[in-house]
Amino acid sequence: MDKIDVAVTLGNEMGMIRKEQNVFVLEGKGSAYLLGIAPDGDIHHLYWGTPLGPEGITKLAGEWVEKLLKDPKLVRENHLREFADFGHNDLRVPALHIEQSDGSRLSRFVYCSHEITEGKPELKGLPGTTVNSPNDAQTLKLVLEDKLKGHQLELFYTLYPEWDALVRRAALKNNGPEPVHIQKLMSASLDFPAGDYRLTSFSGAWIKERQKLDRDLLPGTTRLESRKGQSSHEMNPFAMVSRGMVDEEKGEVYGFALAYSGNWLMEAEVYRDKNLRIQMGLNDFDLKWRLEPGENFQTPECVMVYSDQGHSSLSLKYHRFIRRHVLRGAWKDKVRPILINNWEATYFDFKHEDILRIAKNAKELGIELMVLDDGWFGKRDKDDSSLGDWFEDKAKLPRGIQGLADEIHGLGMKFGLWFEPEMVSPKSRLYEQHPDWCLHVPGRDRNEMRNQLVLDMGRAEVRDYLFKAISKVLEEGKVDYVKWDMNRPVTEAGSAILPPNRQAQTSHRHILGVYDLMERLNRRFPQILFEGCAGGGGRFDLGILSYHPQIWASDNTDGLDRIFIQYGTSFCYPPITHGSHVSASPNHQTKRETPLKWRHLVAMSGNLGYEVDVSKWTDAEKKEAAGFIRLYKEIAPLIQFGDYYRLESPYGSDRASWSFVNEARTEAVLFVFQINPPKSSEKPVPIRLRGLDPTKKYRFIGMDLELSGENLMDEGWAPSFNSDGGKFQCGHYRLVVSS
Ligand code: GLA
Repeated sequence: MDKIDVAVTLGNEMGMIRKEQNVFVLEGKGSAYLLGIAPDGDIHHLYWGTPLGPEGITKLAGEWVEKLLKDPKLVRENHLREFADFGHNDLRVPALHIEQSDGSRLSRFVYCSHEITEGKPELKGLPGTTVNSPNDAQTLKLVLEDKLKGHQLELFYTLYPEWDALVRRAALKNNGPEPVHIQKLMSASLDFPAGDYRLTSFSGAWIKERQKLDRDLLPGTTRLESRKGQSSHEMNPFAMVSRGMVDEEKGEVYGFALAYSGNWLMEAEVYRDKNLRIQMGLNDFDLKWRLEPGENFQTPECVMVYSDQGHSSLSLKYHRFIRRHVLRGAWKDKVRPILINNWEATYFDFKHEDILRIAKNAKELGIELMVLDDGWFGKRDKDDSSLGDWFEDKAKLPRGIQGLADEIHGLGMKFGLWFEPEMVSPKSRLYEQHPDWCLHVPGRDRNEMRNQLVLDMGRAEVRDYLFKAISKVLEEGKVDYVKWDMNRPVTEAGSAILPPNRQAQTSHRHILGVYDLMERLNRRFPQILFEGCAGGGGRFDLGILSYHPQIWASDNTDGLDRIFIQYGTSFCYPPITHGSHVSASPNHQTKRETPLKWRHLVAMSGNLGYEVDVSKWTDAEKKEAAGFIRLYKEIAPLIQFGDYYRLESPYGSDRASWSFVNEARTEAVLFVFQINPPKSSEKPVPIRLRGLDPTKKYRFIGMDLELSGENLMDEGWAPSFNSDGGKFQCGHYRLVVSS
């Protein structure tokens, strides 16, 4: 025990990672994260919360040492641990589980060395958060060793102090003479001290993605996960843990977001004295990774963010972090084009002239990009054929993609195309030629959901074929935008090229292959704007965002449902990433009717697009839409690069509202959605704005109204809607600093 010395050195720089005796201190602008090396070499979790200052750190470290002294045998279960191995005397859920060559499943990793570096080491083959300059981040790498077996475990902690973001991942190297099998290796795991915790997750289904759900964490284990080979509609790989009272403006909240698009897991275990273990990473379900001597296995990254100022501040940190350190490529900081997509206008039933007619009408309204959706390739008149045959259907497009693209470009518009690269239709040339290229298990039925099978993206020849076929079309059409879809989950996760003892690697290899193809196409076509999609919003995660800087949020474009979907999505993902379109009324998915203005204000709260045949609109509808498009072009920088605030939740309420404020706090736009008419007897309730400069006055554009930032944030301001004006009244209000 005398190895422990906590005489912490004072006066170190803030925002840095440092080791002070046996304690590592990782300090962000508004957070501190502490871990300690216990005398037995185990890594203990000491603290994650508001900054402590040197005295606070010394005190905390002192308390930790006292606790260690009271437990000379160091029973692991008595301590808060950072990345729990399996066995010995901690029977809480482990962060790793390895089957050794002798059949034992125990491992014991102890601290061996560490390194603190500027920036962040490269993560090859997986989506990785970026550093734009070495000062953005620092990385602590802890190296642990299992002395008996010689295996090495590396734990990476990259701290982005500006956003209080800690990016964690792990890597395991088999330094022994025999193969081992990884059954579980999480990206991050930590123990919170005893307390009452709540978990907020974002769950749902197709056309009902990311519905906010709060629950108390009670004794036992809660698993949030996907086993579908995609991050999934059912559960998003982002969740928040909070302690005590939390709302948009107050309270301690911890965010966990995984940069991974396949089977993932977040596990929360409340044990005995209400200690809480949280872990996130690859799902251990259906995973067994054989690691040969000398091989290394790395996990995806988990982005953990802390705030002591409630959900709003946590979301702001994630939004800014994602915009700067997750999105990449030419479109990262560019205002996105307003697009029109023909899917709900024509479905599969279109010809060259139809697309051109829609494009011409759209162009007149001010729309900038025409996207041709599903059905342009092979012989695809419904969803039962041709996926994989990435060449145009001359019956629909006699002059080919090139001919159509030329005409669209000739209108002064950009041209975009839909692909579903990871899929093959059993009725296709590709499947005839390569029936073993799909994921399958010999002798078992191949599950044909939506009449399609999933290609084995772990196979290099499959990826090479797709790269070539897709590149050819993109080159010929000088395509500006790609919608990358994925319309069914993975079922028979078996690969024709893997030996039996590597079959349980199939799902992970598949996703690594998907990323590889995305990366290759990104590099080959750096100017193309890619939009992710998976039957709507079934793959909305940081992994996809690292290749595709925007994602189609949902196939549900109903004006009311979308409010809930975009609201839930906003807790982690910034509005610039939300593809949101105006569609027909009644809505195709829900049959609900909503006014054109309402549909616009909802869609304008993200990346505005259209999913409707605008050539069929009346002159009045066209005029109204053109007005909103002009407005959107003016406010797009504010929407896409400003700070987003949820002001009123749509849950259990007649009114929802949110706002966008630019970084200089000189401009804002407020959107208000009065779902049900206000009651005539009630005085309108003011909406308290946020993020404004309290010392400045703001003028409401087009209204005879000026109020101070302080007033708008403290007292608020009430828009007036008509008690007999019916459902779906809404308004947008632009504010500029006047003095
Ligand atoms: C998915 C997408 C839709 C559309 C169809 C085409 O459902 O989410 O937007 O592209 O596929 O089949």
